[in-house]
Amino acid sequence: MAYKEVIYPAEKDGFYALLREQVELYTRDSPDLISALANASAVIKLAFSEANWVGFYLVDGDGLKLGPFQGRPAVPRIGYGLGVCGTAWKRREAIAVEEVACFEGHIACDCNTHSELVVPLFAGGEVCAVLDMDSTVPAYFGEEDKRGMEEVGRVVERFF
Ligand code: SME
Repeated sequence: MAYKEVIYPAEKDGFYALLREQVELYTRDSPDLISALANASAVIKLAFSEANWVGFYLVDGDGLKLGPFQGRPAVPRIGYGLGVCGTAWKRREAIAVEEVACFEGHIACDCNTHSELVVPLFAGGEVCAVLDMDSTVPAYFGEEDKRGMEEVGRVVERFF
């Protein structure tokens, strides 16, 4: 299926409704988890003009391993409770960081990053992965984005 450019509404409800539709559309025929997450990361990255990294870390034993993403090369493994990703896993809740330099234990992958949003995904009541987004703009992600991206995450949870 050829990708068709869409114009996202500036207003958040409309933005996240369209983003959920787009993620559903481009993951629908995925043969497996990796294919689904690869297209999901591409669709999400295209939706956020100021996101410099969008991707997934998958729970693997006592750590997270790097999964499909869009952006610069990133750290391949993150321990439970470490960094923003490992902390979101431990807390079982989304974390929006306005300025990564102020988050103790933040793991830097791209020195241009200022803000970050990490949303845990669940399978069978347990965290199975986290969706990680970085931006070069300070405080780029707010409370509405936390809630919006949690709903977007739900769209791919069925692949786990
Ligand atoms: N900043 C993350 C590490 C992953 S990169 O941002 C892609 C963290 O602190 O967990």
